[in-house]
Amino acid sequence: MPILFNESVKEFHLYNDHISYILNIMENNQLGHLYFGKKIKHRSSFEHLFQLEPRPITACVFEGNLEFSLDHIKQEYPSYGTSDFRYPAHVIRQENGSRITNFEYKSYEIYKGKKKLKGLPATYVEKENEATTLEVTLQDEIIGTELVLTYTIYEDMPVITRNARFVHHGKEKIVLENAMSMSMEFPDDDFEMVHLCGAWARERHVKTRKLEKGIQSIYSARGASSANHNPFIALKRSSAGENQGEVYGYNFVYSGNFLAQVEVDSHNLTRVMMGINPFEFEWELNKDEEFQTPEVVMVYSDKGLNCMSQTYHKLYRTRLVKGQWRDKERPVLINNWEGTYFDFTEEKILDIAETGKELGIELFVLDDGWFGKRNDDTTSLGDWFVNKEKLPEGITGVAKKIEAMGMKFGLWFEPEMVNKESELYKNHPDWMISTPKRRDSHGRNQYVLDFSRKEVVDYIYDMMYKVLKEAPISYIKWDMNRNITEAFSQKLSAERQGELMHRYILGVYDLYERLTSEFPHILFESCASGGGRFDAGIMQYAPQAWGSDDSDAIERLKIQYGTSMAYPISSIGAHVSAAPNHQIGRMTPIETRANVAYFGTFGYELDLNKLTEEEKEKVRKQVKFFKDHRELLHKGTFYRLISPFEGDGNVTSWMVVSEDKKKAIVGYYQALNKPNSSFTRLKLTGLDPEKEYNLNNIRYHYGDELMNVGIPLDGNFKEFNIGDSKIEIGDFYSQMFILTEK
Ligand code: DGJ
Repeated sequence: MPILFNESVKEFHLYNDHISYILNIMENNQLGHLYFGKKIKHRSSFEHLFQLEPRPITACVFEGNLEFSLDHIKQEYPSYGTSDFRYPAHVIRQENGSRITNFEYKSYEIYKGKKKLKGLPATYVEKENEATTLEVTLQDEIIGTELVLTYTIYEDMPVITRNARFVHHGKEKIVLENAMSMSMEFPDDDFEMVHLCGAWARERHVKTRKLEKGIQSIYSARGASSANHNPFIALKRSSAGENQGEVYGYNFVYSGNFLAQVEVDSHNLTRVMMGINPFEFEWELNKDEEFQTPEVVMVYSDKGLNCMSQTYHKLYRTRLVKGQWRDKERPVLINNWEGTYFDFTEEKILDIAETGKELGIELFVLDDGWFGKRNDDTTSLGDWFVNKEKLPEGITGVAKKIEAMGMKFGLWFEPEMVNKESELYKNHPDWMISTPKRRDSHGRNQYVLDFSRKEVVDYIYDMMYKVLKEAPISYIKWDMNRNITEAFSQKLSAERQGELMHRYILGVYDLYERLTSEFPHILFESCASGGGRFDAGIMQYAPQAWGSDDSDAIERLKIQYGTSMAYPISSIGAHVSAAPNHQIGRMTPIETRANVAYFGTFGYELDLNKLTEEEKEKVRKQVKFFKDHRELLHKGTFYRLISPFEGDGNVTSWMVVSEDKKKAIVGYYQALNKPNSSFTRLKLTGLDPEKEYNLNNIRYHYGDELMNVGIPLDGNFKEFNIGDSKIEIGDFYSQMFILTEK
C-alpha cells in the first residue's frame, strides 16, 4: 500500500518511487502538513518535522501553551480566526453570522483506485492498482458538517490529486463563502512562481517571478478559466531550470472562476492554495446536502520544468481525456473560417473540401455561419438549424457530399450563447444571464445563456442532438466567445445568486457529458475565441482545444511553448493559415507555418484554392509528413529546448523523443535573420547517449554528442538547406531535424 497510517504518531505517509507526502493529526485534532517532495524512506515517526516556536504577540490555541499557534504551523486545510491570521482554505457563514470553524479529525479510509467526482471532470484510473486514495474525514461538531479531504497518489507517476467535499448534517443551514480544493505549505520561500498569462491572441505566455512576502495570486472572475490567466502555477526553486532542480506544479481541473494563490508569511512559510475563486462565490448547504470542490493535480519534479510538463502530458493524455479519441490518431483538418469567414456557399465549401482531399487532408470543418440567418456576428446564436440559403440541402446534404469524397465532416457550434436577434431569444428572453433593471453588456453582440438551468441545457442538447443524429458528423468545434457579465439567474433565489458562476460550469460539463456519451465517435475541439478556456476541465471531454485565434507562426511559438507547460502537444489545435497573416499581417514561409503547427493537432485554415500549384505541392508533402510522424509528435516525450521568453526571444526550439528513444523530431525557429552571425550549436536532450542517430540523412551522430556538443548550425543553415527541406533563408526561418536510430 503506498499510503501508510502510523496510528501511534497519527501520521499519514503517501509515497511511491518518486514522491512522499506526509501529513499528521495535530494535538488540536486538526490536520497538519509535514512534507511534500522527493521520496524519502518511511520511518516510525516524522514528528521532528513538526516545528513549533514560542513567538511574542502570537495567538495560541491551548491555554498555558505559548507555542501552538496555527499562525506558524503548516496545515492541510486551514481556517481563519482561531490563531491563524493568514488567508484560509475555507470560510463558512453560519446562521448566527459567525465564520469560525473547527474541523477535527474523525476517521480515515484508504482504498485502491480513485472515485469519480460527482458532476465534475477529474483524472481517473483504468485499473484499481494504478492509484491509491486516502480520504480523511474531519468534522465540525458545532455546525454538524463533515469535511472530507481526498488525496490520490498514482502508482508510477509523481502525482497527487486533491479535492475537498463538505457534507452538511446540521439542522441550521450554512453558506460556504470559500471552499478551496487544496492548500499546503512549505517551510521556506526559496521559490519562483511560474504561471501562464496573456490576453486574446497572446494566450499562455510564460511569466516567472520570485516569491515575495505577502500574497501573489492569479485568478479569473470572468466565468471561464480565461485567456488572461491559466489555472496553473508552478513553484520552482530559484536554481531550477528546464532540466534540473525541484519544481512543484499545481493545475486545476476546472473551467470557471479560479484562484491560485501563494502567501509568504513573515517567517517565510509559503502557503499554496487553489480552488474556485471565492470572489463571486457562495454555496448554501442545508441538512444532508454536500458540496464537491473540483480537483487539483499536483506534480513534483526533481528534474526541472520539462519533467513536470512531461508528467502532466502523460497523465492528461492517458488518464484525463476520456473516450475513443484519447488514443486515436487525430485527423489532419481544413477549417474554412479564415478562408471564407461568414461568406460561403455549398459550392465554395465543396470546392475547398475537394482540394483538401486531393492534398491528403482528412477532415473538413465548417465553422461559424451555417445556421439561422447568420451572415455576420450580430444574429442567430441559439438557432441551431441550417441556413438553407447557404446550404440548400442542409448540413446533412453537405456532410454526405464531403463523406462521399472520402473525407470526414466537422461542424462549429457555440452552444452557450444567444443573440438577441434569434428565435431562441424571442421565445425565452429569461434564459439569458442578465440582472433585472440593469443594462446588459454584450460581447461580440452576444449574450450568455443561463446554463445553471437544466431546461436551458436540455433545450440546447435537443437542438444539437437533432443535427448530430441526422448528419454524418465526426467532429465538433465548441466555441465560447464572451465572458459573463451582469451575473444573475432568473431561476435562483436572492440568497443563491452567488452560486451562478459554478452552476453555469456544471451545466457546461453536463452538456459535454451528455453529448460525448450519446455520440462517442465525435471528436470535440474546444475553443473560446481561441484559447480563452484552455484547461484540464474541458480536456476531459474535448481532447483538443484551438490554441489561439492568433494563427501567425511566430506568435504561435510563444503560445505553444507556454501551453506545453501543463498541456500535451496532442491537445493544442494548431493550423497553417494564409500569409500575410490575418491577425498581425506578418509574411512567413509556408514551411515555417507548418513546422510550428506540426507540434499541435495539425490542420489548415485558409482557402486552399487560393494557393499556387507550388504551394499545394508543399501542402501535400506537409500533410504526408504529419501523417508519417503524428504518432511520435503526439505521444512522444516533449522537451522545450530554447525559450522564446528568454534572451532576445529570437530563437525557439523544442523536440519530441519516442519512448524507446529510437526516433526524435526537433523544431528550430528563428524569428529575424542576423547578418554575419556567430557560431551556434543546438544541444538536444532526452536521447540515448549510446545510440547512433541518422540526422536528416546527412550524417550520423551519437546521442551523447547531440546532447553535449549539439548540432552545429552555420549562419545560413547551408548544410541542412538542401533537397525537400529547402526553405529560403531569411526572416522567420525554421528547420526540422529528424533523428532515427542507425
Ligand atoms: C472564434 C474562434 O476562435 C474562431 O476560430 C472562429 O471559430 C470564430 N470564433 C467564429 O465565430
